Amino acid sequence: MTDESARIATAADAIRSRLEGRRPAALLVLGSGLGGFADRLEQPVRIPWAEIPGFPPPTVPGHDGVLVLGRVGGREVLAQAGRFHMYEGHPAQVVALPVRVAAALGAGTLLVTNAAGGVRRTFAPGALMLIADHLNLTGRNPLIGLVLPGEERFPDMSAAYDPGLRAVARAVARAHGIALEEGVYEGLLGPTYETPAEVRMLERLGADAVGMSTVMEVIAARARGLRCLGISTITNLAAGISASPLSHAEVMETAARVRDDFGRLLEGILARLD
Ligand code: HPA
Repeated sequence: MTDESARIATAADAIRSRLEGRRPAALLVLGSGLGGFADRLEQPVRIPWAEIPGFPPPTVPGHDGVLVLGRVGGREVLAQAGRFHMYEGHPAQVVALPVRVAAALGAGTLLVTNAAGGVRRTFAPGALMLIADHLNLTGRNPLIGLVLPGEERFPDMSAAYDPGLRAVARAVARAHGIALEEGVYEGLLGPTYETPAEVRMLERLGADAVGMSTVMEVIAARARGLRCLGISTITNLAAGISASPLSHAEVMETAARVRDDFGRLLEGILARLD
């Protein structure tokens, strides 16, 4: 067994011992300012990262650092409030660890959310964007190294964001009267926000939104055959598109403003997972 497989198995065993036989159907990763959704789960079992071997402590304000197993929309879901980022100094494998652990616990779906800057010029802060595809410009990949058991060496990424789940998300948004855009998410390392020149470059590359997360998690999930759905909250216009400087406070404020629509959308999607 490789060190990484041992780490995944140890964390999964520690979590499983707390779940009383319950099995999550999906892992729901809650991005910056969106962690409050975990409070909506019924019959919750809360497991702080500090109690999970191999999970480093959180370092970013607004990222809670807890896993919550609970029921929502009639489904057992493992919600991850907060995540690991490479800008905190974590290797890609640590960023992808919760996904691999959730897969080991039986989850077949990854629902990933994030806060992102709007690159598409028609986006307004507060818009919700279904991720149609991503650009991985981090230069990193969680699959580098030995192939882990249950993973593929060369995973196909041509439909990384599941077309069926995206259709469900659009239908739920329509039914609730929630505006849902769709576009390409650009994943960068951070932690600096982009320069205006970088944002112009991203625009030319085909990005609609930019952030510092998500791509490692989706890559690891695809390597294990999980179906993925991603939703970005456009918390601000990317640098140079708006005249005002970017701040983490603005990101958190906008995420709080869209909480209700975001919650209804997620709950509706979870209720319709097969
Ligand atoms: N850039 C990168 N990451 C982000 C942004 C941004 O403008 N907003 C929220 N996360």
